[in-house]
Amino acid sequence: MVEPSPLLTVAEALQRWPQLAQLFLERRLACPGCAMAPFDTVREVASAYGIDVAGLLEEMNRAAVSGPRRARRDGKETEMTPTETLKHEHQIIQLVLNGAELEAAAIRGGAPVNAEAVERMVDFFRTFVDRCHHGKEEKHLFPALVAKGFSPDAGPVAVMLHEHEQGRAAVRAIAAALPGAKTGDAGQAAALADALAAYVELLRGHIFKENNVLFPMAEQVLPEPEQSGLAERFEEVENEEIGPGVHERYHALAHELAGV
Ligand SMILES: [Fe+2]
Ligand SMILES: [Fe+2]
Repeated sequence: MVEPSPLLTVAEALQRWPQLAQLFLERRLACPGCAMAPFDTVREVASAYGIDVAGLLEEMNRAAVSGPRRARRDGKETEMTPTETLKHEHQIIQLVLNGAELEAAAIRGGAPVNAEAVERMVDFFRTFVDRCHHGKEEKHLFPALVAKGFSPDAGPVAVMLHEHEQGRAAVRAIAAALPGAKTGDAGQAAALADALAAYVELLRGHIFKENNVLFPMAEQVLPEPEQSGLAERFEEVENEEIGPGVHERYHALAHELAGV
């Protein structure tokens, strides 16, 4: 049987054995999230926290063989869990990030700014990414994790909140550079390409951390009834923020913008 090894990265360990999230929390090792350093190995994390790697591995082995503590919901296999919903939204977001990356490269290559596409991207980033997606995370998922012992001021939740703010600033920079870039101002066009590229890089890293570090932890620490409650509140966010049915329109828009 494959066992946790000191050479595995934290992200790899959590991906294979999500139940380790509980152990890391219990040991007060904010490591997987605190540093949000998915590329650190278990050995490096143990050394950074000054703990005995052999003892930690022994505990990890015990947790790994114990299997997931959360049972799958019975008879509701088709219903998405809250983290599955968020991961699905990440895939939609990645489509538009690909389009934004292409647009930044085109501008840098001297092409005229595709202002209409960038305007639609800004709308997608503000509405779908920020109000819908980050809204679900900030209003419901993160508070649920804080209630389970995650710190709101340090560690994974705080890092994610900070990155949401950085994303908002990058979108403001995109929107600010657009009018000048549209009229052919070379400096504003360069600023627009930089802001688009910065947003793409930020969001890709953010999504990677959520998918591989934070969400496996959330799946582990949130029991099934709480996950069902979260799924219901996610629906409320949709209805309050954009109204029923609008979400699907943004899915279609994402596909249109992916190849821009
Ligand atoms: Fe997020
Ligand atoms: Fe997210």
